[in-house]
Amino acid sequence: MSDLVAAKRAAPGEDLLSMLIVESAALPESERLTHSELLATGMGLLVAGHETTANMIGKMAALLLADRGRWEQLLADPSLVRTAVEEVLRFDANLGGFGMRRFLSAEVELGGELLPSGTTVLCGMSAANRDERVFTAADEMDLTRSPNPHLTFGAGPHSCLGQALARTELQVVLEVLLRKLPAPRTRRPRRRVAQGRGPPRRRPERGPGPLVTPTNQAAEEGVPMKVHVDEAKCCGAGQCVLIAPEVFDQRDEDGIVALLEPTPDLPHHAAVREAAAVCPASAITLDDNR
Ligand code: HEM
Repeated sequence: MSDLVAAKRAAPGEDLLSMLIVESAALPESERLTHSELLATGMGLLVAGHETTANMIGKMAALLLADRGRWEQLLADPSLVRTAVEEVLRFDANLGGFGMRRFLSAEVELGGELLPSGTTVLCGMSAANRDERVFTAADEMDLTRSPNPHLTFGAGPHSCLGQALARTELQVVLEVLLRKLPAPRTRRPRRRVAQGRGPPRRRPERGPGPLVTPTNQAAEEGVPMKVHVDEAKCCGAGQCVLIAPEVFDQRDEDGIVALLEPTPDLPHHAAVREAAAVCPASAITLDDNR
């Protein structure tokens, strides 16, 4: 960023950073942005402007595909894209953590409590977005919800500067996805996403060496392996789908794992064994005569 600021100083273009440099240079010296202020602004815009929306695009797709009915509703009526984007933002935005810290410069009465000046408060926007007093059936996703006064972009004079851009990006991406990929499938555990339980756990590290040594690989040759998934035990964590997507998949409606290949091909045996070993519900059993 430092190199970029220096390059823009030397040869300003028509971009935002150049505009900040040029317009700041026209101000009296005491009001000009220093190099480190320009750096912080550039970094802030990069993080606030790119990472937030890029992540939200992925989360939007996951939330809408977590329940096939949502995707089909949008395919049937693409004019719902705007309200659907707002609902996704309300339902589970990437607001992480407890909320935004705010320092009270004056006494405030909130919910019958008097908060003295000088108090630091945490504003839980995710909780506010599920407030039943404001949103009917707040824990349900309703792609037609309108009005939708969610607080995902904050409120007041310091509310998100890029919210118009973020909304436009999300709407454009969703419109294009619906047009170009009417029937996408997720390879991610759906149930966790559908319940707003955060991102799925990462696939475990495989370590440096092969999981199947040459000796037991040879022993496996020609030995059919039958797999069984106990649906009653399956917790929908979806680790197996990440490890052996050729063999396991999750049902659209509830995330329970179903088998694509009841007798998987030899090249997948090691992955199936690993999936069975890491299944948090011990729902996968193997019958490979070993
Ligand atoms: C889904 C995407 C986004 C979300 C969920 C989001 C969320 C937020 C939130 C919660 C705040 C704090 C608001 C407050 O203090 O009341 C904020 C501030 C800000 N956002 Fe975003 N944002 C997103 C996208 C963007 C984009 C695309 C840009 C720029 C291109 C951007 C630039 C900013 C800036 C500069 C601030 C600080 C505003 C100020 O303090 O005056 N954001 N954003």
